[in-house]
Parts: sequence; C-alpha cells; structure tokens
Amino acid sequence: MLSILKKSIPLGEIQDSSVGTIIESYGRISRISVMKKFWYLKIRTMYKDDITLVADKSIIKEKPSTYSAIKFEGIVSESPSGDKEIKLTKVLYYSSFDSKDLLITPGMSAEVLRGLESQRMLDRKYQYTFYIYPRLCNYLRTLSKKMGMLEIRPPLTTFSDCEGGGEVFKIVSDIKDFYKRKAYLTVSSQVEEETATQRLSSHTYVLARSFRSDPSRTRFHVSEFDHYEPELVYITLDQLMDVEEYIIKALFSYVLEQKDIYDRLVYLKSPVADLKYWSDTKFASISYTDAIETLMMSGQEFQVKPYWGLDLGKEHERWLCEKHFKKPTFVYEYPSKIKSFYMRQCPKIESVKFGTLQVCEGVDLLMPGLGELCGGSTREYRYDVLLAQIKERGLDPKDYEEYLSLRKQGGIPTGGFGLGFDRLMMVITGAKSIRDVVPFPRYYGR
Ligand code: 4AD
Ligand code: MG
Repeated sequence: MLSILKKSIPLGEIQDSSVGTIIESYGRISRISVMKKFWYLKIRTMYKDDITLVADKSIIKEKPSTYSAIKFEGIVSESPSGDKEIKLTKVLYYSSFDSKDLLITPGMSAEVLRGLESQRMLDRKYQYTFYIYPRLCNYLRTLSKKMGMLEIRPPLTTFSDCEGGGEVFKIVSDIKDFYKRKAYLTVSSQVEEETATQRLSSHTYVLARSFRSDPSRTRFHVSEFDHYEPELVYITLDQLMDVEEYIIKALFSYVLEQKDIYDRLVYLKSPVADLKYWSDTKFASISYTDAIETLMMSGQEFQVKPYWGLDLGKEHERWLCEKHFKKPTFVYEYPSKIKSFYMRQCPKIESVKFGTLQVCEGVDLLMPGLGELCGGSTREYRYDVLLAQIKERGLDPKDYEEYLSLRKQGGIPTGGFGLGFDRLMMVITGAKSIRDVVPFPRYYGR
C-alpha cells in the first residue's frame, strides 16, 4: 500500500479497532469540551460519526478552535460509557481556524449558506450531500454496465446545438479560427453519443457535464449540470419508458439499502418514505394529448391556461404528477413543434376535440416536488423525415451532415433519454434548491 494511505486509519473505522492500537489520523475539530486536565475534542471527517479525541493539556496547551485542521497520533481506548475514543499522544500538524474568519453559524438557512459557497462545505449537511453524490455516480455506472451499455466519453466542445434550442455558450479563443467553425460548450452529448451507438451497434451511456445558457433563475436550473444519457439500439417508446423506470427505481432502492447513504439521508430529512413508495409502485403514464385534456378538465386555475400545443410549464407538470397521479409520471407523444428535431415522428392523429395532430415519440418523466427529471425520445431514423424536421426549424442541415449521414449508412433505430443528475440528487436528498446539491453551482446572474 502507498505510505500515505498505510499509516492513517479513517476515523469512522475506529469503532472496529482494538483498544491499544496506535493510530495516525486527521480531520477537523467540530466541538470542544473543556475539562480540568483535558480537552475533549470531537474530530470530524467524511465518516458519519465524529470521534472523541482526548487531549491532555500538557500536549495541547492553548484552547483549540472549532474547524481547525489537525493531524495526530493516538491510542485507541474505551470511554467509561464503552465507546471507542482516542487518547492523543502526539500532534503531527495543527492549523487553527480563527473564529473571526468563520462566516457560517449553526442553524443558518440554506439560502444564506449559498452565498458562503466555500465555508458551507464545513457544514454536515453539505458533507453528507457530497458524500452521497459519488456513491450514486458509481452505482449508476455499475448498473449501466450491467445493463449492457458501453460508457462513451464525449467531447465538451461541439459544433452544433444538439437540442436546437439556442441555449449554447459560444467558445472563443484569442487564436483566430481556432476550430475553423463556430464551437460551443455541449448542451447534451446526444449527437456524438448517437454516432458511437450507431457505429458500434451497441447500447451506450454518457455521464458527463452539459452546459446551458438558459436564463432561468429557478431553483431547478444551473448553467452546468451533470447529465446521464443512455442510448439504446432497437428500442421502442414503451421499452424506453420501461428502461427509464427500471433505472430510476434501482437508484432509489440503492440509496435506501445502503446503510451509510440511508443514515445520511435521514439526517438530511430526505423523503425516504416517498422514495420507498416510488421504488415499489408502477409509474403513471399519459399521452400529451390526454394530459392536456385532463388539465383542461381539472377545474384548476393555472397561470397559463392549458391548450393543445402548449409547452407544459412547471405548474402543469407538477399538478399532473403531484395532484392527479400522485407519483412519478411519464408524459409521451408531444406535439412535434415543441420538441427537438431528432425525435421520431408519429403518423398524424385525427382528434375529435383538437383536429389533425402531429406528435412525436418524445417522453418526459415528471417527479413530484420537481417536475421534469428526464427528457428523451426514440430517434427519427428516416433520412428524409429528419432532414425535413431540421429545415422546418430553420436549422442549417450543414451543421448536422454527419448526424444525417448515420441514417443512410446502415442506420439503426435507437432511443435514449437525458437525466439531470443534479435534479436527481434534489429528489433523493430532499434539497429545495439545485444549488444545494452542487458544490460550486454556476447559474444565470451569478
Ligand atoms: O430534456 P433535455 O433538454 O434533453 C436532452 O438534452 C436530450 N438530448 C437527452 C437525450 O435524449 N439524450 O435535458 C435532459 C434533462 C432534463 O430533463 C433535466 O433534468 C436536465 O437534463 N436539465 C437540467 N438540469 C439542471 N439545470 C438545467 N439548466 C437543465 N437543463 C436540463
Ligand atoms: Mg426537456
């Protein structure tokens, strides 16, 4: 083992170490109790419970301060109550945290803490949130691999606006014509991922950063977010919804089953009972057209009155999954005009109520308390139809030449979706704002 790892015992494992073991460890001081001959220090690490370090005043002469960094050597011993604690033998490093510099105080609201981005990481709540995040990422990778998907590493620089929604950040360089064409930060890895899926003829997934210059300052939007995007070959719309439901339920079950994560969720006041219910119950699903009809008949006063062709707003999405179905809800077959060019076009529908309708195989997953968590579709694999959709939206077919060519060169019908990973973290931890689950959030107007 590397020497830097060998000597230190993570403090969380001390309960399993036998009395008399000499250990070297480190952390931050979270609490100090003063006794006649000793300082009782609580030492905090990313492990769940703070450990008591009993420090003889002959070793630490001055009263230590909260949040100071300490590295030490000590002997594992047992307290009168039977808990393991450490008797300090040597301070190997100490760097004090002057209370004058401390901006956070216990009980401070998340709103205020958001303005104290660096120091809020000293708080348990954020430590637990940032502990859960990589565990969930690792699990999602393992699950995707188990499901037969190959991980693709996408570029973050792209030459087209994948969604065609114009929410791109442009990349500029002091070197003229660096790329010889316009370059952007990716809004979604879908275009490149579809290429890989097609050429490799394999299910794939991407877990990477996407960027959007969407000027929304809501508690659900950031301008950089982690995006999980599976793309599956030979998949129908029904199968796509099944895959989505399977993955999301597996994620919920995982966090409930892992004790270290579960304990932290309870501390964070996560809606664990809801997660349990959602992981056990079949998600609801409704076509967009039926959803509009349901909204129109609801008797509910919406700020924007629902009509066929409306891009559903948060109020409509939340009413559907929170008030109507009371569980995660798929809405599928949206009007082609309000969705991206790449979605598979359905045959025209004749509706008594709404007339002739053109819908596509797009599907959104709505979560109670959140609204849209996932957006996806089966992909239009007919060259002519795809080209027509690109032109209809005023996009330049030249920007999509490679994408279009996939349809001609042994093209495969595929489908996939994008899950906003930070929004998933909100659902799982119960955080009220996306800014509370991202260590360094970037957002409009920041
Ligand atoms: O619905 P979206 O725009 O779909 C796509 O990007 C597709 N290309 C995905 C695919 O089919 N491969 O985005 C997918 C998800 C949304 O449902 C949302 O959860 C999240 O990405 N998302 C954001 N999360 C946080 N902040 C933002 N500004 C987000 N924009 C989208
Ligand atoms: Mg969407």
